[in-house]
Amino acid sequence: MNTSFVIAQISDLHIKTAGRLSYKKVDTLGALRICIAQINRLAPLPDAVVITGDLTDFGLDAEYAEVRTVLDSLVVPWFAIPGNHDARPAFRRALADKSWLQPLGEFINWTVDDFPVRLIGLDTTVPQQPWGEICEARLAWLQARLDEQPDKPVILLLHHHPFISGIDHMDRQNLRHTEGLEALLANAPQVVRVLCGHVHRYMVSTLGGKVVCSAPGTSHQVAPDFSPDGPANFVVEPAGMLLHRWRAQQGITSHYLPLGEYEGPWPFYDENGLID
Ligand SMILES: [Fe+2]
Repeated sequence: MNTSFVIAQISDLHIKTAGRLSYKKVDTLGALRICIAQINRLAPLPDAVVITGDLTDFGLDAEYAEVRTVLDSLVVPWFAIPGNHDARPAFRRALADKSWLQPLGEFINWTVDDFPVRLIGLDTTVPQQPWGEICEARLAWLQARLDEQPDKPVILLLHHHPFISGIDHMDRQNLRHTEGLEALLANAPQVVRVLCGHVHRYMVSTLGGKVVCSAPGTSHQVAPDFSPDGPANFVVEPAGMLLHRWRAQQGITSHYLPLGEYEGPWPFYDENGLID
């Protein structure tokens, strides 16, 4: 078995149809094309890409068809969980050919066992609502999956952030009632990272002793406004993705990569040593 693993995490694609801009400002499809091209140029390539929800803006079949035209150009396997902007039936229809997606069931939960780190996708969505929850059924499903292979490292994927971000309007729609998940994680030493999206910013927090990373959006970001009752605004800062690198003897490190073209790389050193 391979003892190294790298995944790229992207999130909150919010794809619309026919060139429409999200919130009349953001070319989410163009941004996704830039993102996927950048992933395909990474050297070495990641082993897989995970998408932590909000593939589409309104959960429409046509939006899923659009997003697939871009995702299918990925040269590595990809896996996705739904977000609050997705719709489970349309999500299932659009991804019906994916072996990791169970064709039936209320929730879109899955596991991937193809890598040295097990991926567990947990559906935190509540239909028609922006916030998330992990009900008793989903918590029991997750515990059963963890009990199956207690010694294999796990990366757990959620859409909703299971922490307080400090951005009020997002925290009114975070993952609610996290006590059960917190207790489960505290007794799950095999979970090496918890990943989420939804907040459209790179944030790091903890839950049940685990580091939780939220990915930036692939297009627009939520404005970093910590004022109480601050407005629900977005900004078009540089978009980004996360790379999570795991090694059997080294553990996991999580990296932030902005999307786009930048100058470099250039050397620190030349034949005289550190360049002055
Ligand atoms: Fe989103």
